[in-house]
Amino acid sequence: MNLPSFIWLWQIAAWSMGCSLLAYVMLAVTGGWLFNRRTLKRSRPRWLRPLHYSIGIVLVTFVLVLLAIGLVGTLGYYGSLGHSPHLIVGLLVVTLVLISATSATQIGRRPWARSLHLAANGLLFLGFIAVTFTGWTVVQKYLP
Ligand code: HEM
Ligand code: HEM
Repeated sequence: MNLPSFIWLWQIAAWSMGCSLLAYVMLAVTGGWLFNRRTLKRSRPRWLRPLHYSIGIVLVTFVLVLLAIGLVGTLGYYGSLGHSPHLIVGLLVVTLVLISATSATQIGRRPWARSLHLAANGLLFLGFIAVTFTGWTVVQKYLP
């Protein structure tokens, strides 16, 4: 893959990562609000749950875009995968997001789904830190 198109690819990646982190923060805020209303047994705005759910779909989309860019970009550049711990951390983050999203669809139907949703999202926080750190480390290789 030639260099200009390669940089263009990582630019999309950088924006997607920014949007993912923003989505995560917004999910933490709207999720915390849902939690607060439920535990205080107070009514919640009707739009709150659909909003949380929609931002969740946005997060899933961006993380899958990042996975695709990471795989395509690395394969295009090296012709193979697994050049740093970033691969395993990236796969872990994608897995956690998918666990979070699938467990979310079961909240209300199965008692364990809520705890799974919260556990996955807590781990996801650490996952995002790790994927950003390992990703930033590999970016150093390309900087002049
Ligand atoms: C991955 C996409 C996500 C989807 C599709 C999603 C969806 C949902 C759904 C459907 C509920 C149940 C709302 C209800 O009780 O009626 C929920 C609850 C919640 N979510 Fe998410 N969510 C996602 C990500 C996140 C993230 C990243 C966080 C935190 C950083 C989060 C935090 C919470 C919290 C705190 C609750 C309240 C649980 C409770 O009431 O005990 N969610 N979410
Ligand atoms: C949820 C977020 C992310 C996911 C799921 C993800 C996923 C991946 C995957 C699966 C690869 C292939 C790695 C390999 O086979 O060695 C990759 C490569 C790469 N990613 Fe990410 N990534 C994410 C975030 C980031 C961030 C935040 C950065 C930069 C700060 C970044 C920079 C890179 C770079 C430079 C490569 C090329 C690997 C190399 O040259 O060794 N990624 N990414």
